Amino acid sequence: MTEPEVRPVPPVTLTLRPEEGRLEGSNGRYEKFLPDLEGLYRDPDAYAHRLSTDDGSPVYWVETTQTEDGPGGLITGISVLEPGTVGQEYAMTRGHLHAVSDRSELYVGLSGRGVMVLDTLDGQSHVIEVTPGKAVYVPGHWVHRSVNVGDERFATLFTYAADAGQDYAIIERAGGMRSLVEVDGGGYRVRENPDHRGYQLLPRP
Ligand SMILES: [Fe+2]
Repeated sequence: MTEPEVRPVPPVTLTLRPEEGRLEGSNGRYEKFLPDLEGLYRDPDAYAHRLSTDDGSPVYWVETTQTEDGPGGLITGISVLEPGTVGQEYAMTRGHLHAVSDRSELYVGLSGRGVMVLDTLDGQSHVIEVTPGKAVYVPGHWVHRSVNVGDERFATLFTYAADAGQDYAIIERAGGMRSLVEVDGGGYRVRENPDHRGYQLLPRP
């Protein structure tokens, strides 16, 4: 039996431009606008008010590079979250559990001030502050989202397995994550989300 031929792809160079919210050398981008985020925030009146004054610019965006498919490849990108609040809550990403849930992810703070909100399905929760130069390793099986608790853009570099995928609906079905990150004077406070009703994994088709 002969070994399959290995064809290494060329190395990839990326340049981080967090102040501009860009990852030079990336080959993918998506943006999330306020109208995309209905139901994410707890205060519907505050959300409706924000919508009525929305200028149409993205709330957050992600620029990624993917070079190799399959479990050995990494997707690397920059996540950029504008500052702001909806009601008492700070601007946040939708958050997800990886569809292949044992896949881990590394986040590195590049600019601004944010937190990673992390839950396991069986009841553990963490809220970890991320500032420039600070890295958070998110092991597999953790639901995760970013929140901007500062007054400037919060940018992180992330990298995760190319086959991980994302399950966003798990947070919606649960009534949100366990922790709310809310305005508290000039800072933030974390409190338990009274609407959270536990995470349910749907059986795979
Ligand atoms: Fe992720």
